Amino acid sequence: MLERLESLRQDALARVAEATDAEALRVLEKELLGKEGVISEILAAIPTLPQEERRDTGRGANALKGELLEAIGSKRALLDEALVEALRDGGGFDPTLPPATPARGGLHPITQVRREVEAIFTSMGYEVLDGPEVELDYYNFQALNVPVDHPSRELQDTFYCDDSHTVVMRTQTSPVQIRAMERLKPPFRVIAPGRVFRNEEQDATHEHTFHQVEGLVVGEDIQVGHLTWTLRRLLNELFERELEVRLRPGYFPFVEPGFEFDVRCPFCEDGCRVCSQTTWIEFCGCGMVQPCVLEAGFSGREDVDVSKLTGFAFGFGLDRLVMMRFGIDDIRNLMGGDLRFLEQFPC
Ligand code: PHE
Repeated sequence: MLERLESLRQDALARVAEATDAEALRVLEKELLGKEGVISEILAAIPTLPQEERRDTGRGANALKGELLEAIGSKRALLDEALVEALRDGGGFDPTLPPATPARGGLHPITQVRREVEAIFTSMGYEVLDGPEVELDYYNFQALNVPVDHPSRELQDTFYCDDSHTVVMRTQTSPVQIRAMERLKPPFRVIAPGRVFRNEEQDATHEHTFHQVEGLVVGEDIQVGHLTWTLRRLLNELFERELEVRLRPGYFPFVEPGFEFDVRCPFCEDGCRVCSQTTWIEFCGCGMVQPCVLEAGFSGREDVDVSKLTGFAFGFGLDRLVMMRFGIDDIRNLMGGDLRFLEQFPC
């Protein structure tokens, strides 16, 4: 038995010395000193040995146990130190390699086109305004010449926010017209891009949440010609060429006269999917601001003589413009939040 202890000792110490990492050392420790390891096995076998061998075997085994514990302990310290050393030297890190490129976000296609529109209008001296998306019925309807119970409310299916119907999700950006009149001193030119909401059945061309850009110019001697010039200028800049346009009579309670402003389809000569085979695209509603809307917006303003003022207003859908620009055929993609869609419009 004593010879076995000696050969075990040599073999074990050699293997401890050869262990290359902490894990190998842990496995070896278990094999030698664990509950079911060789030393335990030898100690357990002592009662079966002849009487005269028992004492020396017991001592030898315990001494070996101590020796191995110590050898393993110092080997572990050595390995730890080597590991720290390696990390300090870079641990296989190559500082000359190029860095991993971080995933980059981008601007939503609606944001891209909105900024383009804003740049065109600011170059014409317009100020860009913002307004609340949760709006008072007063601004969204009443001040815009749509009294409570007026049938034209049916034209826009409204999300009401309270039982008394005083608060609505704005159905249009037109309420910003009133807020602009309350705050600004004429003459002024503003646009107000933003999100609007309608309680509509969704399909490829209808969303409950979409975007409009409102425009309002107020001053003395503002006429229809200023309106059409402005919209033509916008379209020429957006499509980078002169496009034919037309005005048709249109009904909006807050303008008089009111128009539908159409533009010749920039994508075809004789009808395509974008213009529903008509060669015309309905671009926006517009018109001359109703005098009673000016009265409401400037009411209580002693610094403003409403009788001298006229103005024009327009409102167009941004989503439609984005769809035309990027060839998107389903509006639901825009607010769908699917990255596979959004990543196709890097910017
Ligand atoms: N707010 C109208 C709509 O949403 C568009 C419009 C704006 C019409 C300004 C005339 C003047 O349909």
